[in-house]
Amino acid sequence: MCSIIGCIANSDVSEPIVEGLKKMEYRGYDSVGVATNSDSNILLKKGIGRVNAVNLDLKLDSMPGHVGVGHTRWATHGQVNKINAHPHLCSDNSIAVVHNGIIENYSELRKNLERNGVIFKSETDTEVIPNLLGSYMKETGNLKKTLMKTVSRLSGQYSFISLFEDGSLVAARFHEPLIMGIGEKEYFISSDVLGFIEKTNQVIYLNNEEFVIIDDKGYRIYDFNGNPVEHEIVTISKQNNNVNKNGYRHFTRKEIFEQPSTIPNTVNNPNNNWKKFAEIIQNSSKVYFTGSGTSYNVALVAKYLFPMYTTISPEAIMSSEMAYSKDRLQENSLLIAISQSGESADVLEAAAIAKEKGLKVISVVNSKASSLERVSEASLGLYCGAEIGVAATKSFTSQLSVFYKIIELISKQHIIFDAEKVSNLILETLDSESTIINLAKEMKNSTDVYILGRGIHYPIAKEGALKIKELSYIHAEGFPTGELKHGPLALMDESSYVIAINPEDNTYQNNLSNIQEVKARGGKIIGISNKDHEVYDHWIKIPNVESNILYPIIETIPFQLLAYHMSLEKGEDPDYPRNLAKCVTVK
Ligand code: F6R
Repeated sequence: MCSIIGCIANSDVSEPIVEGLKKMEYRGYDSVGVATNSDSNILLKKGIGRVNAVNLDLKLDSMPGHVGVGHTRWATHGQVNKINAHPHLCSDNSIAVVHNGIIENYSELRKNLERNGVIFKSETDTEVIPNLLGSYMKETGNLKKTLMKTVSRLSGQYSFISLFEDGSLVAARFHEPLIMGIGEKEYFISSDVLGFIEKTNQVIYLNNEEFVIIDDKGYRIYDFNGNPVEHEIVTISKQNNNVNKNGYRHFTRKEIFEQPSTIPNTVNNPNNNWKKFAEIIQNSSKVYFTGSGTSYNVALVAKYLFPMYTTISPEAIMSSEMAYSKDRLQENSLLIAISQSGESADVLEAAAIAKEKGLKVISVVNSKASSLERVSEASLGLYCGAEIGVAATKSFTSQLSVFYKIIELISKQHIIFDAEKVSNLILETLDSESTIINLAKEMKNSTDVYILGRGIHYPIAKEGALKIKELSYIHAEGFPTGELKHGPLALMDESSYVIAINPEDNTYQNNLSNIQEVKARGGKIIGISNKDHEVYDHWIKIPNVESNILYPIIETIPFQLLAYHMSLEKGEDPDYPRNLAKCVTVK
């Protein structure tokens, strides 16, 4: 995933473009570039690395020009190097393009353009876009026709913004986000509202298969067939889009420590139509959950949770596996898609497959007006604020809270989800940070971490392993405790770290027996529990809860802290782990 931004104003735009790129860096951060139009010339600067570093070196934010585009890259086609960094120019340097997504038919398009004399400079799929725009501009001399012809040739999923020598800015959306910001005599267009929220909160969400032309006459939006489209300007909340660290060293730590307030924000949010959502679930003959990564782990928790208190027995299907599981989908049933961003390509594809099979699709999403929300019949928002750290933390506990609350409604209050009480439990759990810092120091050089949990704790074991891999680059696996004897036990020796999720519930006694087996082979045991036990080499204390069913939310917190602190101990940047992007918009 990459971030793209364009701006047109009455003053130089490179500074707001660079500021916007800094705010959207979570989307990709291996290289950065800016192009502006100054006196009908396109100026271009780009470099490898994070925005601050490249800017310090190249002074991207001091480039002259009242129109410009900017990009941060997460490489898909072509290595991370300066040539492959965006913006890309057409062969006569009259058009600059920044692009997010993938052009699937780029190699065929590239060959055609090469036959017509175009010389390509990079290995990217993107470079076909400025060259197609350039050739159609020569042919038609008309911006709108050029856009229509260009988009008709591209397949894949993309959004792009192009800067023309005459000072016009154009942008097109095809299955990747694109949002316009309308300011005082200035316009922004970007992949995320975070790119311009500090300048304006008046926005237009472009629909799929639409493009916009912005110039000194204002803006005009069209669908891909060239029909003019009118859009409402929406006012969005600046507070929900706060992207400051508020004194924290990292976004990840800030977001972990925000959880005592984000959970009540989620479940008490009056904008959500909880009743309608619960009714749709209740009235469905069969319920499927889908999601990717951390959001899929929420689906796994929901799979355990629903049958405990309702007559609903859902299935959880990984979004990337939906294409191969579609024969299992029963007609007239319901798919609940879970996603922080609402833009993950696999999740969107899973929703599309389900729709094709005649299922109703509803969703739980954090980012407002995301693609997933738009294709859903009903959607609940997380309202936990922008999540910038690449590792999902507060969105995970908010997603879990949504399903606890829904079950409260469906089960006619058989369980009560008291968000204030859960907040206090999380606050207590956060107190274990100093124990976890010591543990992170001890574990930072370990090569393998095994995480055990039975029943509803198994998805949390998987989530814990995901966080540790993602942030500290240590191999970690989560599996059901009972499966220890079917393979993993062969790997245990004095160098093994085993984290047992072991609250005092119906999984407690069986876990203890399995943990003893690890201990007998010399492995070091870390117990996450409300109760200490002599088998533990280290105990991470979690508070006692009134209802055992709340443990999954509480026991997640130590894993977030451990992964964060191991990353710091190893000298890594927890906000921007290597090879990852916050939202994966490619399949
Ligand atoms: C994990 C993480 C990813 C996401 C996954 C799905 O910490 O951030 O695994 O959970 O890419 O993203 P969304 O929820 O935006 O669909």
